[in-house]
Amino acid sequence: DLHSSIEIPDKVKADAPVYVGKEEDIKQSQRITASVHDREVVVFYHEGKFYAMDRRCYHAGGPLHLGEIEDINGQPCIICPWHKYKITLATGEGLYQAINPTEPSATPKWRSKGIKQRTHKVTVDNGSVYVTPSDLSISCDSDYYADKYKKTGSSDM
Ligand code: FES
Repeated sequence: DLHSSIEIPDKVKADAPVYVGKEEDIKQSQRITASVHDREVVVFYHEGKFYAMDRRCYHAGGPLHLGEIEDINGQPCIICPWHKYKITLATGEGLYQAINPTEPSATPKWRSKGIKQRTHKVTVDNGSVYVTPSDLSISCDSDYYADKYKKTGSSDM
């Protein structure tokens, strides 16, 4: 019967890997943006590794795909172009510089504010790159902007 189709339950669909581009292309451009199950994400290729996270900064929705990558304590971080928040690519932690007022001469140390930006799993299979959304039942600070920008589409600013 030509009219029959297989129904895939929503739950299965929502966490299935989504093809985002060719490995070679992303290695060359170093970053791309993509829609993964209605969610705007950015995929980075940095020093031999792929990373994916929500595209809108957890702080106020800044465009992380336009930020610079910097190493902080050996962890690659994206610097949000809007207010310069630093977010680790691997885990989505927000970093801040802690200054101990009782030791004013000490160099400020980088500390984590905890996981703020939702990261997603990247897999490469036979030259194709896929993003698998992380578990959406566990909420994350960046979810608010991920939802908000979902409706307005993917303009660059
Ligand atoms: Fe990213 Fe404020 S929106 S630092």
